[in-house]
Amino acid sequence: MNEDNLNSLRQKVKDLALDYQKKDDFTGWFEVIYTEALEDAEQIPWAKMQPHPCLENWLKTVDVTNQTALVIGCGLGDDSEILAAKNAQVTAFDIAPSSIEWCQKRFKNSSVNYLVADLLALDDSWKNSFDLIFESRTIQALPIPIRREVIAAIATLLKPGGTLLIVTRLRETEEISEGPPWAVSEQELSQFYEYGYQEISRTPYVDPNNPSILPEKDGRVRASFL
Ligand SMILES: C[S@@+](CC[C@H](N)C(=O)[O-])C[C@H]1O[C@@H](n2cnc3c(N)ncnc32)[C@H](O)[C@@H]1O
Repeated sequence: MNEDNLNSLRQKVKDLALDYQKKDDFTGWFEVIYTEALEDAEQIPWAKMQPHPCLENWLKTVDVTNQTALVIGCGLGDDSEILAAKNAQVTAFDIAPSSIEWCQKRFKNSSVNYLVADLLALDDSWKNSFDLIFESRTIQALPIPIRREVIAAIATLLKPGGTLLIVTRLRETEEISEGPPWAVSEQELSQFYEYGYQEISRTPYVDPNNPSILPEKDGRVRASFL
């Protein structure tokens, strides 16, 4: 996709998110993006149709066989599928029904349990039940006024001793920039400590398609928590 098309797609996302936010609806716009894409992944600005390199690289260093894995805001399913290919027992959910339908069409024989669900309204039975949680760019897609709620919802899903992997942009100050995405601050990330998490590693990542976003500033990181 050329730069002009990408910029107009990003502007569409910002405008839609803002329109919905005015109605106090922080998530309704995702379904609009997926349905209006008419199964053309180029119309989904975050869809790369391949697993995130941070997850791919991490999976070279660990064995996730038989682990229960949860993928939050799974989008078009590539991260879920690589976890399944590594023999994890994967549940993947998204709030947008059309994204889940799309995953099911793309990966017909998948072992992944794809579900429509809202992170902010999950069944209590999911609490403390996953060995591995992967969240890529969903925290940053939700606005800062609900960030505490979003992080609390994620934090309670992991089994004691499990691993949470986050891929997100970071912002250096508490100042709120225009989004989406709304990069995550250190202070927001530290909310995980309140739930007993410890940060065990952080890997800066430069998106080759977006090298202007440097890890030192408005950076993407993979943070693993224990
Ligand atoms: C920026 S996209 C990232 C998708 C995917 N994780 C990736 O990295 O390609 C954010 C995803 O989170 C989903 N999402 C947003 N809010 C959600 C919520 N409350 N519960 C579940 N999924 C949500 C959206 O529908 C969207 O698919």
